[in-house]
Amino acid sequence: MPVNSSSVSTRRRLDEIIRSVHRLRPLPASATRLLKELDDPHATARTVAELIALDQALTAYVLKVANSAAMGYLIPCASIQEAVVRLGFKQVRSLVYSTVTAGPLSARLAGYRLGDQGLWYHSVAVASSAHWLATALHYPDPEKAYVGGLLHDIGKLVLDQYVMADYPQIISIMRANRLPMWQVEEQLFGIDHAGIGGLAATHWQFPTELTEAIRYHHAPSPDLPDQRLAALVNLANALAPENQTEDPVLAGKIIHPVAMEILRLKPEQITPLADRLREGLFAYQDRLQLP
Ligand SMILES: [Fe+2]
Ligand SMILES: [Fe+2]
Repeated sequence: MPVNSSSVSTRRRLDEIIRSVHRLRPLPASATRLLKELDDPHATARTVAELIALDQALTAYVLKVANSAAMGYLIPCASIQEAVVRLGFKQVRSLVYSTVTAGPLSARLAGYRLGDQGLWYHSVAVASSAHWLATALHYPDPEKAYVGGLLHDIGKLVLDQYVMADYPQIISIMRANRLPMWQVEEQLFGIDHAGIGGLAATHWQFPTELTEAIRYHHAPSPDLPDQRLAALVNLANALAPENQTEDPVLAGKIIHPVAMEILRLKPEQITPLADRLREGLFAYQDRLQLP
């Protein structure tokens, strides 16, 4: 059978995209150790504080958040250990992920037409929305939802240069077929930014649930055992209030039917939920600041 030259070049480009995921720098060793410690049932506020103290940026961020007005304490923390107790391990975990990813997520993404900190603001808006929605929908770990929201579009960092090269073609396919960009990415590159994000998450040895939430944030899978986190991130991505005039279908801000089913939501619940979310997000203003 003759081999189609365009499919050969697509295959070659896909291989190149996947290789660039494998070339991503590993997470800093200090963050990996700390994330491991936070998952250890024998960890204490003291052992966690000792590891935080090894990282200046993280120390400053942990103290800033623990002493922020949102935490509601009048007396500032005297030590990192006290800050860890105030925040709890789950929120400290979110702060570790925020600190290691703030730099890359703040970069300008010329391909996706996102200016400086454009992806950061979107990511924090989705993360804060995921946290609020998790609480409203009784998901047991809202901080986990925060991290899923924060990292959901991380694959865009890798795919940006390829989107840049094919931008006019991507936009014309999107407009002609009323498709969101992620579906056109899949058509053109053989993988979308969610798939790339899932590979990056595997490369960084993120927990399975988080990896799957990133991988399936646009289309939660009905075949996997627990897609609640992916469904929450999908909902948060669709409902996060943002200043954009773009068509929600083209912007990919659509709630997937599988997410509705997993979260047991009915269509008539969405508008009131979105209205309450908009009000609830005022409590998350502090998180927009870069660590
Ligand atoms: Fe996305
Ligand atoms: Fe997104």
